[in-house]
Amino acid sequence: MAGWAAVLLVAPAHANLLQEQAQRFHPIESSGGMVAAQEARAAAVGAAILGRGGNAVDAAVATSFALAVTLPQAGNLGGGGFLVLWLPRNGRIVTCRAVARTAPVPEAIQLGRGEAVALNFRETAPQAARADLFLNADGSVNRERALRSLLSTAVPGTVAGLTQVQARYGCLPLRQVMQPAIELAQRGFPVGVELSRSLEAAAPLLKADPSSARQFFQADGSAYPPGALLRQPQLAASLRCIAQAGAACFYRGRLAQQLAALMRQGGGLITAADLAAYRAPWARPLQTRFRGTTVLTMPPPSGGGATLLQLLKVLEPLDLAATGLNSAATIHRLVEAMNLAYRDRNRLLGDPDQVAMPLDRLLSDRYAAAQRQRIQANRHRPAAALEAEPSPSTEGTNTTHLSVVDRDGGLVATTTTLNTAYGNGITVPGAGFLLNNEMDDFTAQPGAPNAYGLRQGAQNAIAPGRRPLSSMTPTLVFRADGAPLLATGSPGGSRIINTVLQVLLNRLVYGLNLASAVAEPRIHSQLWPDQISIEQGISPDTVRLLEQWGHTLRLVPAMGSANSVEVRYASEAAGARPTGSLGVADPRRLDAAAIAQPPR
Ligand code: DON
Repeated sequence: MAGWAAVLLVAPAHANLLQEQAQRFHPIESSGGMVAAQEARAAAVGAAILGRGGNAVDAAVATSFALAVTLPQAGNLGGGGFLVLWLPRNGRIVTCRAVARTAPVPEAIQLGRGEAVALNFRETAPQAARADLFLNADGSVNRERALRSLLSTAVPGTVAGLTQVQARYGCLPLRQVMQPAIELAQRGFPVGVELSRSLEAAAPLLKADPSSARQFFQADGSAYPPGALLRQPQLAASLRCIAQAGAACFYRGRLAQQLAALMRQGGGLITAADLAAYRAPWARPLQTRFRGTTVLTMPPPSGGGATLLQLLKVLEPLDLAATGLNSAATIHRLVEAMNLAYRDRNRLLGDPDQVAMPLDRLLSDRYAAAQRQRIQANRHRPAAALEAEPSPSTEGTNTTHLSVVDRDGGLVATTTTLNTAYGNGITVPGAGFLLNNEMDDFTAQPGAPNAYGLRQGAQNAIAPGRRPLSSMTPTLVFRADGAPLLATGSPGGSRIINTVLQVLLNRLVYGLNLASAVAEPRIHSQLWPDQISIEQGISPDTVRLLEQWGHTLRLVPAMGSANSVEVRYASEAAGARPTGSLGVADPRRLDAAAIAQPPR
């Protein structure tokens, strides 16, 4: 916890007669819980649920359903995602009647004074899907079909995931948790600046579908200006059906029929049987120690968690504090490690239910040491050189992340998506929800780039019932004494993993507070294309040095939206008492907010 020490060292009051703050950015503080999400109204819904006695899971589920209404780019009923939670055994988790009635989850792990588990509600390929689904007759990839057709949609997992985690780990009735989302859809909400611009930008996609055109544009066809009321009565009715009948409404009831009918009529593959067969499995979180903390994250089919842990293991012994935050020397090391780790992600990882992968070896100390050895000082190893080396084995932009902390230190990190903004742009007629285009996360053809430029291998080929490899990386961190510390994650496709990595390094290695850790400029490299994407704020001198070492750099739009929360403690001492929470909305997104639980 060297980082914490650094923060305390610069903060003593007597050292600062002007009472200036040590850092430029500051998290929101609360004496209770906190919700950080990409849209403020949805975050407020979760905070209010905390105020009514809900725990972190109730708040996360309430916010997720609200995001399906207020952040249609990414919040969803027709998509999927991942969730990692930790709840204290001696807090609200045992006072919930729902938990007392249900059997233990075998995948849960005991950590500190509570239990942690991951939930995989990633979409699955329909039974009729085949590896060559997106190939033209000449063998090229049909990008239009992979991103904008009904064929691009995989069987949605969100409704199964949210209702399941709420039934097992939540405290309040599902109806109460979903009521605010229903009201936002029914009565409407004033469109924010970001949504207004986003709808305008997505007009060509959304207006190509009559149901989407009706739902997301005004009667005269124009986009909703900021402040105008967006009402979604069909979506409200769908949410009401889920609140009353649970996931059965979506997978076997009215919504299943409407979705299957659209697929039948429009040439899609998803059948009523695919929907009825959908399951969201619990999973054992991946974990590693890092600089005295414990990091828990999502296992495959997230390629994010495994890649994040590989990176943390390679970087841990390097003296990154000495090379300095965002210096050329530090960025060089990060980038070389990123390229090695993404190479493994793209070749070796896939859906663990269908393909074997050498996860234990990839996450071993030995392998991390070998990878570290391969990083050359001040010399970039070109992607082409790396790709030509023997494999270590024989074998866009819209998603959304939210983090919740409750008054007992319960934590939830969950990332959910339709894949690209508004998914395939098709709204299910009569049901008012958009469909994902997650099938593009599969390998359409080995080596051909997907929407995020990822060139993946046969491990991630399309196959019936398989889940596409993801980069979503919901992550929790615990203090050395096992007490919960923070929840984070991000959207950004392939850039998610490196975003989460940098938030963790900024907080745990460089001692930045959570707000500064999230605000710092980010960099990204994923082997191919062989270049470093940099955000505004990396010094030109640094760029020149990196160029001298063989790197190519490109200034890109701001990356990610790492809405994060942290438990506040009285001190760093082991066993210290939590005194509330901290929250940060990533400043990169206009409508994001961290909202504190209202005082009782
Ligand atoms: O699962 C994945 O990795 C992608 N479908 C996530 C897409 C995404 O983050 C787009 N966001 N900005």
